[in-house]
Amino acid sequence: MRSKAVLCVLLLALLAGCAGSGGAARSDRPDRAGDGCHGADDCLARMTLAEKAGQMIQLQNAFLDDPRDLARLSIGAMLSAGDDGGPRGGGNDAAAWAGMVEGYQRAALRSRLRVPLLYGADAVHGMSGITGSVIFPHHIGMGATRDPALVARAERVARDETLGAGVRWAFTPCVCVPRDVRWGRTYEGYAEDPGVVGELGAASVRGFQGDALGPGSVLATAKHFVGDGGTAYGSAAGEGRLLDQGDVRVGEAELRRVHLAPYRDVVDAGVGSVMASYSSVRGVRTHGDRRLLTGVLKGELGFEGFVVSDYDAVQQLPGGELAAQVARAVNAGIDMVMVSKDYRGVHRAITAGVREGRIPRARVDDAVRRILDVKERLGFFDDPFTDRALTAKVGSPRHRAVAREAVRASQVLLRNEGGALPLPRRGSYRIVVGGNGADDLGRQLGGWSVGWQGGTGRTTEGTTFLQALRRATAGTGIEVATEGRGDVGIWVGGEDPYAEWFGDSETLALGEENEADLADVCGRAKTCVGVLYSGRPVVLGGALARTDAFVAAWLPGTEARGITDALFGAGFSGRLPVTWPRRAADAAGRSREAGADPLFRYGYGIRPY
Ligand code: GLC
Repeated sequence: MRSKAVLCVLLLALLAGCAGSGGAARSDRPDRAGDGCHGADDCLARMTLAEKAGQMIQLQNAFLDDPRDLARLSIGAMLSAGDDGGPRGGGNDAAAWAGMVEGYQRAALRSRLRVPLLYGADAVHGMSGITGSVIFPHHIGMGATRDPALVARAERVARDETLGAGVRWAFTPCVCVPRDVRWGRTYEGYAEDPGVVGELGAASVRGFQGDALGPGSVLATAKHFVGDGGTAYGSAAGEGRLLDQGDVRVGEAELRRVHLAPYRDVVDAGVGSVMASYSSVRGVRTHGDRRLLTGVLKGELGFEGFVVSDYDAVQQLPGGELAAQVARAVNAGIDMVMVSKDYRGVHRAITAGVREGRIPRARVDDAVRRILDVKERLGFFDDPFTDRALTAKVGSPRHRAVAREAVRASQVLLRNEGGALPLPRRGSYRIVVGGNGADDLGRQLGGWSVGWQGGTGRTTEGTTFLQALRRATAGTGIEVATEGRGDVGIWVGGEDPYAEWFGDSETLALGEENEADLADVCGRAKTCVGVLYSGRPVVLGGALARTDAFVAAWLPGTEARGITDALFGAGFSGRLPVTWPRRAADAAGRSREAGADPLFRYGYGIRPY
């Protein structure tokens, strides 16, 4: 372990006074009484410019050189980003994270005014950064349910598991409206229809925050403002990028009708933070777009929370010089800067920006007030620590049952010839299973699962399809095999996990391995069922006709029993949240557009039982 990291671990333990990942009992936690400031008005009145600048910084745990910087600079927030989110000393379960976050909080409370720290993570389909948590279907699957009550229930579980990991800020819901499924982040969106996105996004906010921000809330984040799902194919700069972080080239009316509309719903639901988008609108980078961030979001929509930049996105603004980039972003309406390594540089850029007249002092005061107001509404000035009783409930059977129900409700049946489904629950018949997803938990999860890009194999705790099938058929007379011939063949496979621009696809190909596996399994069975794990529609070509039944399972998460529940008779209720194109070149087309010839239209789904 590098010497600097060793120093950090030792300092953190010393400052935190907590024993490793166990954390401290509630009784010996530092209370905030005494000389600390209390609430937005009091803190703002007493803070120096340097302390205000610190509140406007969110730094990543992996790059905190010295925990004493949290107090020295009065840092407002931290995050665990995609990879290596856990404590440096190892351990990636809820208890390890909770101990880590508590240590940072204790270090931050040593600042002059003892302002509590806000810790955030990408709990985008459950608290998916830690091992042992319940991982839900990605948003595209939840969109297939069209069920806001189910989304809210799922997010209440995610809220409790996020709190169990000591985290109080979730960078979700993405209320992007994916309009071209070749985009690598399609699965982070609920649907191509802004009405569905707004309804489910608002349900997600209420699931995490409750009806209003309060001591039991996890702060939600509507992202990425605005138009991240509407970038033009080929407009993204950078190796291998096609759409992600590209340019939105639609007129103002379409921008508002499609991409801005969901933000009205989530602002009305009380979302406490909004994350700006890396992308640009008609050539203007959104992180520097005062018209959109301040005029539209804070002005027209009346958003009263705070706007956080995306990860190192401020440094992507034109000009290349940090002081100017930070000044442009803050003046445009960014209230908190999410930064990896150069948090000291950002701090200097804010303080110097004010002293040298590039940033109005009133703009800094407005930003800090927004941040402190959210902390006050979260109850941080009374108790900035999370309830450690929730840590033991992470991954509980009750939580997994909610995810299993969400998985079943998200399944979309695209084909069912000859009544292939439902499969008889009992009887002496043989099922032969194959495909790269049959017994691979990582493929069920997709990106943003333990690691940024996800992974294959047993990356956390959960139930694979094959394990689910074996449990569903135990004692029924049905034989399950992975070799030989069968009465029924089930192919389970699909996309390799990916996140962000790594998922941008020119071809939407199912892939030769999947096509060969599907042909092989179906060639060894009388009746064949295809189960596709994917973050979006893929080009199915001849594969579909090789099957008797075909299920779009999306990226279902840790509870594959929800899929077997549907196969054995619990029913299919999912409907396509996006248009399923026949060819990749049609991926930007909408079902309802004149001349559209999709393979399956938006909203399609068979409900045989
Ligand atoms: C990423 C993503 C954003 C995420 C953030 C923190 O680049 O764009 O969705 O919340 O960084 O991980």
